[in-house]
Amino acid sequence: MTDRKLRSRDWFDNPDDPEMTALYLERYLNYGLTPEELRGGGPIIAIAQTGSDLSPCNRHHLVLEERVRDGIRSAGGIPLQVPVHPIQETGKRPTAMLDRNLAYLSLVETLFGYPIDGVVLTIGCDKTTPACLMAAAAVNIPAIALSVGPMLNGWHQGTRAGSGTVIWLARQQLAAGEITPDQFMEMAASSAPSVGYCNTMGTASTMNALAEALGMELPGGAAIPAPYRERGQVAYRTGARIVEMVHADRKPSDIMTREAFENAIVVNSAIGGSTNAPIHLNAIARQLGIELTNEDWQRIGHHVPLLVDMMPAGRFLGEDFHRAGGVPSVIGELMRANLLPHPDVPTANGLTMRQCYEGTGIIDAEVIRTADAPLLEEAGFLALTGNLFDGAIMKTSVIDEEFRSRYLSDPADPMAFEGPAMVFDGPEDFHARIDDETLGITPDCILIMRGAGPIGYPGGAEVVNMRPPSYLIREGVYAMPCIGDGRQSGTSGSASILNASPEAAEGGGLALVRTGDRVRVDLNVGRVDMLVPAGELAARARALEAAGGFPVPPSQTPWQAMFRREVTPFTAGMGLRDGPLFQDIARK
Ligand code: FES
Ligand code: MG
Repeated sequence: MTDRKLRSRDWFDNPDDPEMTALYLERYLNYGLTPEELRGGGPIIAIAQTGSDLSPCNRHHLVLEERVRDGIRSAGGIPLQVPVHPIQETGKRPTAMLDRNLAYLSLVETLFGYPIDGVVLTIGCDKTTPACLMAAAAVNIPAIALSVGPMLNGWHQGTRAGSGTVIWLARQQLAAGEITPDQFMEMAASSAPSVGYCNTMGTASTMNALAEALGMELPGGAAIPAPYRERGQVAYRTGARIVEMVHADRKPSDIMTREAFENAIVVNSAIGGSTNAPIHLNAIARQLGIELTNEDWQRIGHHVPLLVDMMPAGRFLGEDFHRAGGVPSVIGELMRANLLPHPDVPTANGLTMRQCYEGTGIIDAEVIRTADAPLLEEAGFLALTGNLFDGAIMKTSVIDEEFRSRYLSDPADPMAFEGPAMVFDGPEDFHARIDDETLGITPDCILIMRGAGPIGYPGGAEVVNMRPPSYLIREGVYAMPCIGDGRQSGTSGSASILNASPEAAEGGGLALVRTGDRVRVDLNVGRVDMLVPAGELAARARALEAAGGFPVPPSQTPWQAMFRREVTPFTAGMGLRDGPLFQDIARK
């Protein structure tokens, strides 16, 4: 306990302004709260509720909230539910990513504008986690995250069916005529056997693990499956802990330091985390005035080995990961191998990473490997550049043997390949034309997707991991090189070159490439170039400008229009364009 004046007292117990105090109080009393509770009963704790019928991945938070409330009460706090703008990854059109900044902005307004002393962030489905962490970081009141947990393992005909990953497989089988649409439906549904978020190491599992790696969850809180009893227990403890954090004034800026982000980058490599993670972490860091770049991701993360054998990079699912030890085992192992750069940073529970995780051990070494016998020696992202874009990333941990032998095994030119470009303008164009045999797509083509970035397809489409044409799949070509200014699902096992910035709609090099141009990808030097003379590129740029620039479809909603005006490229986190940096809002 401390005698520091709580923020909420400014509303509910302000002797200098008794009239406003009365006005603020009276409506909060109308469902049974008492003046004693609100004026002197301890910190007001918001439970930022991301679950709803529209957000099924996080819906179990509505149940867990009861345990969070119990925990808050047990420690002397007053819980208030705060609804968060719904985000559901697969249901929101045109893309859930468009709403990450909207949920962030609205939660900032809520946390800033109401009498709230601390907040429990109920995280889960992909964008809910960064939206909540961005808001807490900007407002900078004490905050702790509670993961809803992954779904149980999915099973289809005796094998594990992972969220998303089974969809990519079913799509190939449907395109090859091996299954019917009904069987497609059955395979898809098999991967979702319970409440919780995607059970693969997609963006949801990644971001929940990274919230723990950043120190923003209780240790061990990330990976417990949603229906397990420990999930309710950690909900209670999270509620109790946030009250202590308010008394100690332990703020997001005390926990999410540059060192904490560097730890998270290393953990992301070790778990085989999603290619959406750099976008989100770069955005969260900027709320705290920390400039995190894709080059940081390569420098800090590329050499880190892959320890977790989980789809899409590996074989197992969320339940297996939890039973093998989850995030604590991964961090403990990284520490044992001296790979965690900053073990002495603080976490939400008041202890350092070292105190929380040292010596945790691995329970199942099939699922979580030791650093001496990893699944892969170097599992992090490559940060690429060239004349097609200034910045893009590639997840090397998902390059499989087939891809490696087809594209990256020329002894005279290892880790590099060249081929003619096949250009698609957005996902609709891709779906309309990919199976057209007259395009003459061969396995040495490089598929290019543009018009899919934050401005071109507001929010950025998860479409860069393009499948080959059906006729090539039938010949056994399951993956081709893809480059694009959109994103890819974290559940995809495709070794695509993603998040290219600036995007075509912003005048990036991708706007100038044409079908048939030769493109060279050289991973040795980290470059991707169209082999087109500079004079020709300049002529194309002039012609494009004369034609009014790269075509962008009209905005469908007011938010899409605002988003397009304000958004930064993926490399900067797809946040808000320059202007005053809003940080530490509650203290200004
Ligand atoms: Fe919500 Fe995957 S779709 S967690
Ligand atoms: Mg996704």
